[in-house]
Amino acid sequence: MNYQAIKKECEDNTHLISMVPVSEIIRFGYEIGLNENSKVLDLCCGYGTLLKVWNETYGISGVGVDLNNHFLSIGNERLQQEGIDKVLLICDDVTKYKDDEKYDVVICSETIETIQNTLELGEKFLKKGGILAYQKLYSKVQNPPQELVDFDGEVLPLLELNRIFNSLGFYMTCMASDTNSMWEHYVVNWSGKRDINMLRQNPNDEKLKQWIEKWYRMYFDYRRQYEGQALFGLERF
Ligand SMILES: C[S@@+](CC[C@H](N)C(=O)[O-])C[C@H]1O[C@@H](n2cnc3c(N)ncnc32)[C@H](O)[C@@H]1O
Repeated sequence: MNYQAIKKECEDNTHLISMVPVSEIIRFGYEIGLNENSKVLDLCCGYGTLLKVWNETYGISGVGVDLNNHFLSIGNERLQQEGIDKVLLICDDVTKYKDDEKYDVVICSETIETIQNTLELGEKFLKKGGILAYQKLYSKVQNPPQELVDFDGEVLPLLELNRIFNSLGFYMTCMASDTNSMWEHYVVNWSGKRDINMLRQNPNDEKLKQWIEKWYRMYFDYRRQYEGQALFGLERF
């Protein structure tokens, strides 16, 4: 077994703020036909890990945009460590971002107000015939529990999401799903551990204690059973 390759995959998974693992992101990239001529824009790129992984696998060039400077500086450090100079990470609000370039693939990792708004924003930067890669939470059941809706906002079942994509003129031609282990990493390690470290510094912070209790309860009681996340590859027809 190639332990070093597994460790590298863990490092990349740790730098995804998403529940879709690197192995699935690589399959997604293969299925949408990425190659060294592909230009990819990642709106809400976090650490820029999708671009990093697709550059290392397929040689793509890309631009990532995110508001969070902390994520971007870690992302830039990781790109530098690997000697990747075809990926640029920019600090900006995606709703204000300006770019004259048209891209083969535009990733929309965050819903900006509505699904329609988000896809319209992504499509502004997309070449004709390009792929929108939309990352979205969904409900695994027809009627999700109210507690989950109160916590996460509207979570729609896959069939309803597909209907909305179609009504906006898109077909789903690729899909990469989450795994329990990525959820576990996100909930208890990426987010949970950070909050518990904060609690160590402020042990009397009752609000934080309540939040931590709620965060874990929402995952074990609701999110694990009823919620999924996927990266949807959408094409116009
Ligand atoms: C769910 S994370 C996704 C990160 C990345 N795509 C990944 O898979 O790791 C969403 C990101 O959206 C960013 N974000 C949210 N609203 C934004 C906005 N209006 N402009 C730029 N970035 C935004 C957050 O800072 C966060 O990094």
